[in-house]
Amino acid sequence: MVKQFLRNILHPDTYHALSRMKNGVVSGYVNHQLMTRRKKGGRFISVRIDTVTACNHRCQYCYTLDLTGHRTQLMSLDDFKKAAENVFPYAHTVALSCSWEPTMNKNLADFIRVAASHGVPFLHFVSNGSHLTDDTISAMVECGLDRMAVSIDAATPEMYQKIREVDDLEKVLGNLRKLKDLKDAHGVTKPTVNINWTAFEENADQAPKFAREHGDLFDTFWFWHLLPRMRNSVNPFHRMSRDRYYAVVSELKEILGDRLTSTEFNEDRSNKPLGTCNRSLDNLRIDPDGSIEVTCSRHSLEGNVLTDDFADIYVRNEDLFEMLYRKQTDFCQNECDR
Ligand SMILES: C[S@@+](CC[C@H](N)C(=O)[O-])C[C@H]1O[C@@H](n2cnc3c(N)ncnc32)[C@H](O)[C@@H]1O
Ligand code: SF4
Repeated sequence: MVKQFLRNILHPDTYHALSRMKNGVVSGYVNHQLMTRRKKGGRFISVRIDTVTACNHRCQYCYTLDLTGHRTQLMSLDDFKKAAENVFPYAHTVALSCSWEPTMNKNLADFIRVAASHGVPFLHFVSNGSHLTDDTISAMVECGLDRMAVSIDAATPEMYQKIREVDDLEKVLGNLRKLKDLKDAHGVTKPTVNINWTAFEENADQAPKFAREHGDLFDTFWFWHLLPRMRNSVNPFHRMSRDRYYAVVSELKEILGDRLTSTEFNEDRSNKPLGTCNRSLDNLRIDPDGSIEVTCSRHSLEGNVLTDDFADIYVRNEDLFEMLYRKQTDFCQNECDR
């Protein structure tokens, strides 16, 4: 609430500078609290689990598609149950997605039901929204999934296809409509729907158009500045200048008000020295084979969630966790406010 108010009244540069200062002071305290929680047997981690490593879209900007030599993996429901038992009791937040497309898992509905049975305080996922089946939508509503973020970055089918190589915009909007109708029929507000708009020169002006035309289909909107792809230079889209970026942010604010909840301009991080990040502990990523890494860093954890309880994994990786809690990570230094 206070955050949104300050975001509305301050110049973005001032807001982000204050936010970084706050993070410097407060995150030590927050991490100390998480550690206290851990010692008392409470929930202290946030995990993201890719139950499948594949995608049906080909977003030209996507950093995941930069990954070379990856092999497609799919987690079985039995393995997911083991992972959930070993990890979810320690998690205050679980995402059923991270780097790939969760709906490529045809049994996603069952995975949602299993995850929801563990009472994790915040359960969510991020998707391109094109393969949401009726069963998945029902499971999301019945289980009270907290949030689904849907990545949409075009207001016209032409731009959508240019970015993603598939003509799925109408299908995605249809799925969002189905979700809204089902929520209305049940009289519930969950899952909330967030639009993840990855913004660049070519699609930025379509964001206000989308917000105006489809504002009833979502709750909140993130306008995120395109990050440079890391491993190659074939991205056909162009990053915006700071002024241009914030001009579109102003336009979106006029339309969405407080529903515009995240606007993150970033500098080109590709050649930056190693940095620190307040989000390091939010980025424990589990692969379908049960291995764990700290996303965006070079750190893999010792252990496997299909066989090891997370308390044991923590002990085996205590030195790394100490580093993460002190924010001594090799994450990027985006100008985000976390
Ligand atoms: C990698 S995708 C995985 C989840 C799902 N497939 C989706 O698209 O929502 C997660 C998010 O990363 C964003 N993303 C991918 N490449 C990006 C880049 N180069 N810069 C900024 N965001 C990017 C996508 O737009 C999406 O919102
Ligand atoms: S849908 Fe998501 S994972 Fe797939 S290419 Fe697009 S951004 Fe990448």
